[in-house]
Amino acid sequence: MIRKILTYPHPILAQKAAPVTVFDEELRQLVADLVETMFDAPGAGLAANQIGLATRVVVINTSKKEEDEDRQAIALINPEILHGEGSEVEVEGCLSVREYSTKVERFQKIVVRAQDLKGATSEFEAEDFFARVIQHECDHLEGKLFIDRISSLKRGLYKKKLKKILAEE
Ligand code: NI
Repeated sequence: MIRKILTYPHPILAQKAAPVTVFDEELRQLVADLVETMFDAPGAGLAANQIGLATRVVVINTSKKEEDEDRQAIALINPEILHGEGSEVEVEGCLSVREYSTKVERFQKIVVRAQDLKGATSEFEAEDFFARVIQHECDHLEGKLFIDRISSLKRGLYKKKLKKILAEE
């Protein structure tokens, strides 16, 4: 089911998400909804708190093309970034941050540990764009948005812009 994506300044986006402890049908349904909502948006990734559940689940779009039949995604349950190195600055946006994107510095390469839908743990390496999306989604689970990683001056300008947008609606 396609869910509504919450946007800043919704308070749940600033909340630290709780670990998943039960790997059941409810979790599988949550992941299915996240994937469907991410593909519909479309987005590079989506975290559970973006649809209103402060739980440590993210999905990442791993599709090679935009076409429906090629769509692929992975789910990371309780993901942790164990190690990061290098740095890359690229323009980032977020489905929960309306009408704004800006350059954000991230690790170029990371080592990630996460569980799957059955609770099995694995570790893997990610680089470049894939690493960026994982870092962005893991931030969501800490209640952090990419606008928390830019200068307070730029953030202030964005808040002003958003106020205007909301007032015009
Ligand atoms: Ni985001």
